Amino acid sequence: MSADAAPRGHRLFIRKSIEQVQRESQTHRLKRTLGAWNLVLLGIGCIIGAGIYVMTGNAAANFAGPAVMLSFVVAFFACVFAGLCYAELASTMPVAGSAYTYSYTTLGELFAWVMGWLLVLEYGVAASTVAAGWSGNVVSLLANFGLAIPPDLTTSFIKAVQSPGGLTFVASGGFNLLGALGILGVTGLLVLGVSESASVNNVIVFIKVGVLLLFIGFGIGFINVDNWHPFIPPNEGGFKYGVPGVFRAASVIFFAYVGFEAVSTAAAEAKNPQKDIPVGILGSLGVCTVIYMAVAAVLTGVVPFRELGVAAPIALAVDRMGVGWFQILIKVGAVAGLTSVMLILTYGQTRVFYAMARDGLLPRFFSTLHEKFRTPWIGTLVLGCVIALAAAMLPIEILGDLVSLGTATAFAIVCISVMRLRKTHPNLERPFTAPFGVVTPILGIFFALVMIAPLLLDMVQKATHGDPIPASLLGGYLVLGALIYAGYGYRNSRMGQGLAQIDDDQGAGPGPEQAIAKGIGDGHA
Ligand code: ALA
Repeated sequence: MSADAAPRGHRLFIRKSIEQVQRESQTHRLKRTLGAWNLVLLGIGCIIGAGIYVMTGNAAANFAGPAVMLSFVVAFFACVFAGLCYAELASTMPVAGSAYTYSYTTLGELFAWVMGWLLVLEYGVAASTVAAGWSGNVVSLLANFGLAIPPDLTTSFIKAVQSPGGLTFVASGGFNLLGALGILGVTGLLVLGVSESASVNNVIVFIKVGVLLLFIGFGIGFINVDNWHPFIPPNEGGFKYGVPGVFRAASVIFFAYVGFEAVSTAAAEAKNPQKDIPVGILGSLGVCTVIYMAVAAVLTGVVPFRELGVAAPIALAVDRMGVGWFQILIKVGAVAGLTSVMLILTYGQTRVFYAMARDGLLPRFFSTLHEKFRTPWIGTLVLGCVIALAAAMLPIEILGDLVSLGTATAFAIVCISVMRLRKTHPNLERPFTAPFGVVTPILGIFFALVMIAPLLLDMVQKATHGDPIPASLLGGYLVLGALIYAGYGYRNSRMGQGLAQIDDDQGAGPGPEQAIAKGIGDGHA
């Protein structure tokens, strides 16, 4: 692979050539089979998960109260503009590592590394987050059958406790073995090459949406409107309620939208990208936003918001409704939906590292394929163990914040990449162009900052009030990334060594989101 001429002395900013990336994509041309409706379904399948089933409870209880409904609107905007930018890049470079490759081509290797490291938060840490939510829902389901798992085996080593100014994190001594086992289960499936097919995605979408619609339809009758007053509870310090709380809650439930990028990156398979991609993005995000707001309305209407900071808030609300069969139906649906999201996210993580290892930025075993299963099996096993360990050790509140922080930063970089590519390659063929010129990427960056600011401020506030755990984890994560790049990636980068070429042996397969989109999209035609 040839590099764009990087200025001398800027080895860190060496770039992959866009023409080469496009040539790679031509050798792996995907069929244009997806219509707007397929794309909406694809998006919903990747979007709905622990965000709505679990994190809405924490967002309402600790930050926004009933106004969490508004937080969903703010988070929606943080996704729409970035989504359109994603789609523009994806339609131009539809292969190999997606957001990671876009950064390699437009901004250079250092940004590609940063993007790859951020995608670990968006996929790997998100998988741990969903596993934490999955274990809470499994515990709640088992309770309906009179089965109990010792709490020490379902509570993470660090846990969140309520304090006057919000949440504080302390060591609990527990180990969420259940959540870890959930991840190890999907890891086994991924080693064997199981991924979600079109028909499985349709069934999962049906279950996920069905469960939430049932919850809304059935729950309306149990709403006590007094629970909605005050709609925006007065601020109690920091981000606890008031307008700051609405924005802080938006940064929490931003997680609930993660995954819609699969729609943008399906641009290469869209029948009519210029029309279908915006419909797919706006449609899936719009449908989810309406459902999410309605779920939040029922949730906070049935259970007083201060009581919602639990591992399985939807399950708590259906328990309050007190109808036995309905409890089991909703909980089985939640567990099934969350299992599929764990699979999708862990899969995405293995493909990010696969692409990075092929470029020499990570050890080669992340891209070594199993002879029979044709999956990156060693990398999958290693990543599965790390993701499982994170699920066992860390609480959903910290994991979710790290995901939102990483994803929002990745979105901002994608928006910057769009502006940069329009400048450096104005005449490039773009099957899809984000509308409204520079306004869309700028709004994308603005809303990414709206997500990032409360997360960082809250971490700093916590650190200065004697709770350094979230800030230390973020700091440690960033330092680890820098050390791996300096100690391995920089030295072994194939671009840096001038060795890069299309590796026919391994194949320049699709990037994580495209692979997910392709797996799910196949057969939709
Ligand atoms: N949006 C996905 C979820 O909520 C990641 O689980």
